[in-house]
Amino acid sequence: MIIIKSKEEIELMKEAGRVTAQLLASLEQFIQPGMTTKEIDRYVEETIRKSGQIPAFKGYSGYPASACISVNDQVVHGIPGKRKLLEGDIVSVDLGTIYKGYYSDAARTFGVGKIDPEAQRLIDVTRESFFEGLKFCKPGFRLSDVSHAIQVRAEADGFSVVRDFVGHGIGRNMHEDPQVPNYGAPGRGPRLVPGMVLAIEPMINQGTYEVEVLQDGWTTVTLDGKLSAHYENSVVITEDEPLLLTL
Ligand code: MF3
Ligand code: CO
Repeated sequence: MIIIKSKEEIELMKEAGRVTAQLLASLEQFIQPGMTTKEIDRYVEETIRKSGQIPAFKGYSGYPASACISVNDQVVHGIPGKRKLLEGDIVSVDLGTIYKGYYSDAARTFGVGKIDPEAQRLIDVTRESFFEGLKFCKPGFRLSDVSHAIQVRAEADGFSVVRDFVGHGIGRNMHEDPQVPNYGAPGRGPRLVPGMVLAIEPMINQGTYEVEVLQDGWTTVTLDGKLSAHYENSVVITEDEPLLLTL
């Protein structure tokens, strides 16, 4: 069941999204070669708590940290730890907050120092694929119109769309209906209506779209060891242009 949010609920979600947006923006400067992923997680947790909000991921299904930090061939759900970021790595940071019971969820992929032009192109196309999908985030379109637009943009550049993980509705829970795949034929699924809030999150790979989950039960990597990028925002469907809560 897709839960439609009231104006009052959207106001609370805006406040959750604001903290997530500002924190992700600040990571662009914060992330430096030599830093461990654990240091990034500590900064994320401290920043969220200073804002008076709650880190949404910590303890979620037993997840042990406040951010998912996924390096290079890690697609999503990388657990922060001792790994040091090296110049040329790409690092995806996915995080969220809870404000008065309402969730925000967003992700970005950053380059560490100077990165390969091909890695930069993957990051850019992943972001662009989100914005192609966003063009269909309006009443009158159907959910898979969003999915299809994302897939077309990613594949146009020779990249592949991860199938095993999808976006989702968001509200009083981090994961609500509907699931939002980043691939598929257009014209299917529920019609979009004002008050729907969707976390749209393309995960795009350089090589095969196939992924596997490592022994830790979380860290998800590409099967071929090539790079992966992630870009996510929580988006409100309105009467006209969609509202980005986390940008
Ligand atoms: N941001 C992820 C998502 O969009 C959720 C992370 S799972 C957690 O589904 F356990 F780390 F919280
Ligand atoms: Co999400």
